[in-house]
Amino acid sequence: MPSLSVHVGGLDLCNPVLLAAGILGTTGASLCRAAEAGAGGVVTKSLGSVPRAGHPGPTIVQVECGLLNAMGLPNPSYRDFQDEIETARKGGVPVIASIFGSSAEEFAQIARGLRADAFELNLSCPHAEKYGSELGRYPDLVEAVTGAVKAASSVPIWVKLTPNTADILELGLAAQRGGADAVVAINTLKAMAIDIETGYPILGNRFGGLSGQAIKPVAVRSVYDLSSRLEIPVIGVGGITTWEDAVEMIMAGASCIQVGTALMKGYGVFEEIISGLSRYLERKSMTLEDLCGMAGRRS
Ligand code: FUM
Repeated sequence: MPSLSVHVGGLDLCNPVLLAAGILGTTGASLCRAAEAGAGGVVTKSLGSVPRAGHPGPTIVQVECGLLNAMGLPNPSYRDFQDEIETARKGGVPVIASIFGSSAEEFAQIARGLRADAFELNLSCPHAEKYGSELGRYPDLVEAVTGAVKAASSVPIWVKLTPNTADILELGLAAQRGGADAVVAINTLKAMAIDIETGYPILGNRFGGLSGQAIKPVAVRSVYDLSSRLEIPVIGVGGITTWEDAVEMIMAGASCIQVGTALMKGYGVFEEIISGLSRYLERKSMTLEDLCGMAGRRS
């Protein structure tokens, strides 16, 4: 069987299929379970500097081809999550801590205080005032936050980018200038749903972020644009549900991929994607390296 191990953004991964932030990342046990199910790395739910309750409910609604969420970054704070990370490490794969803050200094403070194998900077949540894309849509802030975390930490820094922008490439270039080891594309698309019986927006926060199959073509295009210009690796996320989706995202230029919403089908999705990808490479007599960015070389 072809080797699926890969070195991406400063981490050695046994395979290129990772657990995305936000899904099953709230406890060490669920992160560990994802690793045992085959994930090559796991990303925690986003952690801030103080505990947050998140938005009022409903916080999640299923819509056509995806999920709409406005969780509002609920978390116990990084100070109360170190034990969960130690538990997650028992899964034997890198544990990447997703972190958020309202300023470069707040991000850096968390990076100084938390131990993880890498940090993924959430500069892209589309529905939390003062956080996420409220900073991450400005290239100068992306560069400043990345630079501050890089200076505060010795582990790899990944920057998760927002698609809610006219030009995601500008954001990727800013992350690279700030010293990022990789960019992660994409977070959710800002969206909403309305109950037609009552006329009320369904989510407690009125609007939220759309994930799942509906956003995959946006993610593929974003990864393609970023990987054609950046020197650092691009990690693809957004609607990947099957091994065919993973192949497409890697062909677009993703060095590895993350799976989130598809986990509604259960932990078995890791094994399905990994074994399908492996069989595909064997059938085509290709390596992961051959596959990565193939679409860019054909255009
Ligand atoms: O609210 C949340 O935890 C979601 C975060 C995100 O979309 O990045």
